[in-house]
Amino acid sequence: MVFGVGHRSARLMIVGEAPGKNEDLQGEPFVGPAGLLLDELLAGIDIARPEVYIANVLKCRPPANRDPKPDEIETCKPYLQEQIRMIRPEVVMTLGNFATKLLLRTDTGITRLRGQRYDWWLGATLIPTFHPAAALRGGERVKDQMREDFALVRAVLDSTPTAEGQNSSDPESDREVSGSQMELFP
Ligand code: URA
Repeated sequence: MVFGVGHRSARLMIVGEAPGKNEDLQGEPFVGPAGLLLDELLAGIDIARPEVYIANVLKCRPPANRDPKPDEIETCKPYLQEQIRMIRPEVVMTLGNFATKLLLRTDTGITRLRGQRYDWWLGATLIPTFHPAAALRGGERVKDQMREDFALVRAVLDSTPTAEGQNSSDPESDREVSGSQMELFP
């Protein structure tokens, strides 16, 4: 069981697919090779892992790393919802198809959805990108596209004024809620 890890008032939350073997053993998301790439991409926009909150769609490792099943996603969904409610990130970055399709409630694939920002639930901005494991398979072209998406995260964070403790007090009242995709997640 791997619940999530990170800063309780993180401005950026990252949502992956499901824990793998390394994560299952250590109880922390993204600690294997995909996690190293994730750390590198974060460092590229001057963000260190302890500043963000990282969670997965599934909280348990699927046997033999198979794809998550629809009933497993439904079972775990309330936990992810609650994590997002508690952390109240300004930006949610989804990694890969499973997280992106669930959080944007769409069947459209990640290749078409990435490269853009979406006004999302609770006034947050959602930015989808490829799963780092896909980049490890796909090489520099995929990594370059991920770097573009991370740069978009940086730009959105830089354009949002930060008040100390903004996410830890009464978040309902201090985030402007806008955009056509509002309330998309639940
Ligand atoms: N892949 C994921 O989607 N999540 C992890 O935590 C590790 C690998």
